[in-house]
Amino acid sequence: MSFAYRDGVLCAEQLPLDEIARRFGTPCYVYSRSAIEAAYGDFARALEGRRAMICYSVKANSNLAVLALLARLGAGFDIVSGGELARVLAAGGDPRKTLFSGVGKTVSELQLALEKSIFCINVESEAELERVDAVARHLGRRAPIAFRVNPDIDAKTHPYISTGLRETKFGVAHADAERLYKHAASMPNVELLGIGCHIGSQLTDTAPFVAAVERMVALADRLAAAGIRLQHIDAGGGIGIRQKDEAPRPIGEFLGGALAALGGRAHTLIVDPGRSMVGNAGLLLTRVEYVKPGAARSFLVVDAAMNDLIRPALYDAWHEVRPVRAAGDDTTQAAVYDVVGPVCESGDFLARDRRLAAGPGDLLAVMSAGAYGMTMSSNYNTRPRAAEVMVAGADARLVRRRESVEALYGLEEVPQW
Ligand code: LLP
Repeated sequence: MSFAYRDGVLCAEQLPLDEIARRFGTPCYVYSRSAIEAAYGDFARALEGRRAMICYSVKANSNLAVLALLARLGAGFDIVSGGELARVLAAGGDPRKTLFSGVGKTVSELQLALEKSIFCINVESEAELERVDAVARHLGRRAPIAFRVNPDIDAKTHPYISTGLRETKFGVAHADAERLYKHAASMPNVELLGIGCHIGSQLTDTAPFVAAVERMVALADRLAAAGIRLQHIDAGGGIGIRQKDEAPRPIGEFLGGALAALGGRAHTLIVDPGRSMVGNAGLLLTRVEYVKPGAARSFLVVDAAMNDLIRPALYDAWHEVRPVRAAGDDTTQAAVYDVVGPVCESGDFLARDRRLAAGPGDLLAVMSAGAYGMTMSSNYNTRPRAAEVMVAGADARLVRRRESVEALYGLEEVPQW
């Protein structure tokens, strides 16, 4: 277990979290190296002996230490910006195993991607296809592309993280795909590599995931009949994790379903997991500042806030909150609390209606915070971003220093009118 109690104290691998708080301060993101290795291992085992690529979705957690670890394990990357490409390169990731997704790629981002010889650009619109072709022509190159096709499948997840329905902005319409492939096939500066989709995030059931792959395979078959042979099928990410009482199907079942949908075809299966690789490999460590009993609700005011972890405010996401010391001492009565931060918004909560025994100075761990935690953080209320720490066994390393307040306004200038 990456995060478990030992002698009544919650530990990250072998290190008690109170020691981590003492060394690095709070709020602080804590990642378990072995948990990331284990998740990667689940993907690698399920795809062993198959033509496959695991392209970790950088947006979930883009810390260079995480990227370098995954690069070392053999992962490729799924990026959505020039910034993420720069991170992959800085971490020693291989651009030749990197996919570029996203609906709004700029000319300079496309140039950078082509100059770095990235593996594939996932084109999301006809206008983007024209732009990719023009940029490639200008550079005297052929751009390797796939279309991200919107399969119009309901992922049955939170609407904000459901991306495969017709009404979302993502991908080209399924009905337009054949025409676009034929058009692209006639372009001299474009090389058609594959087809991709991503129907949404935090999927617990394999059925919509597999159904989307089946739709991609059927489309690839139709294209092959028309003389357009694709090399890969990208099933996207989206595999869910257990945050509360969900029981997501194991990673192997998702991938087994996708491989079965491919049948005996020679296509490479690509997956771009984010959350399932890092979500449960991280927690947000925070300290209780005040206990604030109230008539209607009682609050634990902690030193982490919505700017550190916005998922509860944005998606009403449920993150388990564990006390770092399992049993509060006798003077601490358990009560039902909202765990809130200091930010000036009623939406600034990390958890609501939780039975906890905690008093001022106690440490709490907000679980399942390894994905879309730090990457979605902000400096709202001029709050420096939290420190990030990675633990391996009994060894803890600072992988991102806590931001300084001065750095937050360091780019600003007061005009001397
Ligand atoms: N591939 C593509 C094309 C994507 O758009 C995404 C995520 C992924 C892969 C990775 O999905 P994952 O395996 O992590 O589910 N901020 C939200 C999640 C947004 C996901 C956006 N796309 C959250 O905190 O729940």
